[in-house]
Amino acid sequence: IRPRLTIAIDGPAASGKGTLARRIAATYGLAHLDTGLSYRAVAKALIDAGAALDDEAAARRAAEVLDLSALDAGILSDHVIGEAASKVAVMVPVRQALVAAQRRFAETGKGAVLDGRDIGTVVLPDADVKLYVTASAERRAERRHAEILSKGGDARLEDVLEDLKRRDARDMGRADSPLKPAADAHLLDTSEMDIETAFQAACDLVDRHRAE
Ligand code: CDP
Ligand code: CDP
Repeated sequence: IRPRLTIAIDGPAASGKGTLARRIAATYGLAHLDTGLSYRAVAKALIDAGAALDDEAAARRAAEVLDLSALDAGILSDHVIGEAASKVAVMVPVRQALVAAQRRFAETGKGAVLDGRDIGTVVLPDADVKLYVTASAERRAERRHAEILSKGGDARLEDVLEDLKRRDARDMGRADSPLKPAADAHLLDTSEMDIETAFQAACDLVDRHRAE
């Protein structure tokens, strides 16, 4: 029997990591966890409770009671919640609780694809395949902007770009588990790549690992 396959996909906002993670999971019959949703859910819990986004005790409690199997991507996909998520994500107790739950998820079943910021570096340092997906801030902003418009929303491209840059800086600059490629991650720059080409490149890496 083939051992459990674990795949770590990290990268900045709107690099395409979520789309890749979902497609890889479907192709190889693995479970998929979008770990960004767990940080978004903690942020939303604080907002709903009227708590400050730096209220560490409230954030820790929200992270500890979170049920990863009951996260609603529709409700949490909001752009304001993404920004709030990056604020709660700097707090050590929040990360400790969420990382523990994410590891439990990866350890069950036949294998899993997790996508986020610290999967290859912290959550699953022994993942079989690690991918670090990037694209220029301008391309990522164009993609996010198109996504907002396609959902009937409204935003200026310049504002989306500013938001992305601010969130990247917070994610790369924090002390605990900053966004950075693991030493053994494969880099995939999708600036000039459509999602199909990126998916093929990712599958090649997974197939190469499985042939070893
Ligand atoms: O998960 P992450 O925030 O990294 O990105 P995503 O939600 O997978 O992708 C953001 C948007 O960019 C989606 O609408 C994708 O279809 C699009 N995209 C693209 O057009 N070309 C790529 N190579 C990657 C993503
Ligand atoms: O989809 P997008 O890339 O815009 O954001 P996300 O993956 O939903 O993540 C929202 C925020 O949660 C990020 O900006 C990070 O601050 C935080 N996050 C994290 O710290 N660690 C992870 N493994 C995933 C997300």
